[in-house]
Amino acid sequence: MTPDRRAAYLDALGIDWYRPKTAARVAPGAPVIDVVTESSIAANAPAPVTPRPADSMPAEAPPNDWPQLRSMVATCKRCTLGATRTQPVFGVGNEAATLMIVGEAPGGEEDRLGEPFVGRAGQLLDAMLSAIGLDRSDVFIANILKCRPPNNRDPQVDEIAACRGYLEQQIAMVSPRLLLAVGRIAAHALLGVSDPLGRLRGRVHETEKWAAPVIVTYHPAYLLRTPSQKARSWQDLKDVRRVLQGQ
Ligand code: URA
Repeated sequence: MTPDRRAAYLDALGIDWYRPKTAARVAPGAPVIDVVTESSIAANAPAPVTPRPADSMPAEAPPNDWPQLRSMVATCKRCTLGATRTQPVFGVGNEAATLMIVGEAPGGEEDRLGEPFVGRAGQLLDAMLSAIGLDRSDVFIANILKCRPPNNRDPQVDEIAACRGYLEQQIAMVSPRLLLAVGRIAAHALLGVSDPLGRLRGRVHETEKWAAPVIVTYHPAYLLRTPSQKARSWQDLKDVRRVLQGQ
């Protein structure tokens, strides 16, 4: 990406990247982030929420095959959201991506179009990806929930538990080098903790659960409401780029 193009994307993010005193700036070569382990987080974290298995969840494991997994999600009735959504939002992108982005749940536009992150938050996510030289088609994007919760309410614990197998199977099949959790719900579901998001970002989380490390950042919908945090999200994106580059 040319410097001009990157500058345009940073402008789209609202990041004042010219001024050295901006908190987002990291000196070249400076140690950017700490690596923390699951156990070191757990030591400081409140007790994680233990998902209650949904009563309706069948014992059958999701298939290790994209068409079958898609068709299973398309007809899913593991929780009540199947009754209120327009269509499930399976996920989209490169099935062999090095970066997999995990969001929360479809909103109204996603429910209508069947694709994750296509509303205003999605446009900002695209700009964020472009700022580190990635296009939506380079990554795989999925949500914790495949179906829209009514009125965009927070996902419930039993819904997260019911949908979890699908996401686990997607992560296993994409086999990314890095997982990026966008927002509190995705971070908590992937890391099994309930810390505030501000305590989870700024690190690379190595877990026993996932083969790939996890980076946490703000949800783009939150950034639209709280533009003052965009500088921090740019720090997170640079961490993503650095990990993907193997540095
Ligand atoms: N927010 C999310 O977390 N996911 C989407 O797909 C859209 C909005």
